[in-house]
Amino acid sequence: MAKILLTGATGYIGSHTWLALLAAGFDVVGVDDFSNSSPEVLNRLRELSAQAPVFVRADVNDAAAMDAVFAEHRVAAVVHFAAFKAVGESTAEPLKYYANNLGGLIGTCAAMRRHGVKALVFSSSATVYGEPQFLPYTEAHPLAAMNVYGRTKLMGEQILRDLEAADSSWNFAWLRYFNPVGAHESGRIGEDPRGIPNNLMPYVQQVAVGRREFLSVFGGDYDTPDGTGVRDYLHVMDLAEGHVAAVRYLLEAQRSVTVNLGTGVGVSVLELLKAFEAACGHALPYRIVDRRAGDLPSYYADASLARKLLGWQARRGLQQMCDDSWRWQQANPDGYGASAEVQA
Ligand code: UD1
Repeated sequence: MAKILLTGATGYIGSHTWLALLAAGFDVVGVDDFSNSSPEVLNRLRELSAQAPVFVRADVNDAAAMDAVFAEHRVAAVVHFAAFKAVGESTAEPLKYYANNLGGLIGTCAAMRRHGVKALVFSSSATVYGEPQFLPYTEAHPLAAMNVYGRTKLMGEQILRDLEAADSSWNFAWLRYFNPVGAHESGRIGEDPRGIPNNLMPYVQQVAVGRREFLSVFGGDYDTPDGTGVRDYLHVMDLAEGHVAAVRYLLEAQRSVTVNLGTGVGVSVLELLKAFEAACGHALPYRIVDRRAGDLPSYYADASLARKLLGWQARRGLQQMCDDSWRWQQANPDGYGASAEVQA
């Protein structure tokens, strides 16, 4: 079976995709520098897959380390997750974001080219669509990023398009993720953000487990059914399976593809909160506060192209997203715990 290299392999989406690829029969070699993840993930992957994870601790910009990985493993395709994703931090530290998100992408592609590997799945984001001109967003929606993080994704897409234009033997899958949430159904791996969570679901999880007092709902006066922000939340295992479908497409069709990965269903902050209350079995305190700067009122995917081209669609609904997030958070109230702290 083909061997797939994952960069950012021990992160939230990387770790779930790792399991999905193994479940689909692929071999996996993971690379991560633990700059935003925990080595404990490897123990969990060993337990869940009943095999030793093949892993190299390295920065994707370390050319010698990447050369060693490609020399040792016959890699058929790369899934490039290694990147930072906090919007607020990206505004405060643009150089850190451009260096890591674009430098890392270029370093990865350069290493691939040295070793004749020319199939790559890129973690893009719905953020590349910017202010909605129409909804749902289709892949043909105009592109306009609204912050530094978003620009690293948009520029990352462009770099790869330029690479393909220069050398048509490259094939890329540009995957535009909507809002990934949830955890593996075992509750053994999940999202473990450092510090105060920026994103809604991890914050709600921490309120549910008593680590935070209440949820601040950013805005209650949007032009949406209940006044709170609407997003297309997507179960991380569906997203992981979307990567498996994209890898198959690259290897079988040998063509590039740009697709949204979402459910096509918009869910409000209060709807998500209610579903989480059902999952954890108790009320969750919240306060409606001011809007967060830079937030859009509402967006969701037209998810039909991924179904048509990749044969992929999301199968897990909102309640399962909350049930699985809760299982993970309840069993791991401090995430991966001390091992995560040591690396911080
Ligand atoms: C954010 C980023 C987006 C990035 C994505 C994944 C912004 C403006 N956008 O998306 O670029 O791709 O994360 O990392 O940061 N909310 C609350 N209280 C909270 C947290 C969030 O009410 O404590 C609300 C938000 O206002 C929004 C919804 O929950 O309506 C989802 O927020 P979040 O999880 O941060 O995702 P996005 O803002 O959609």
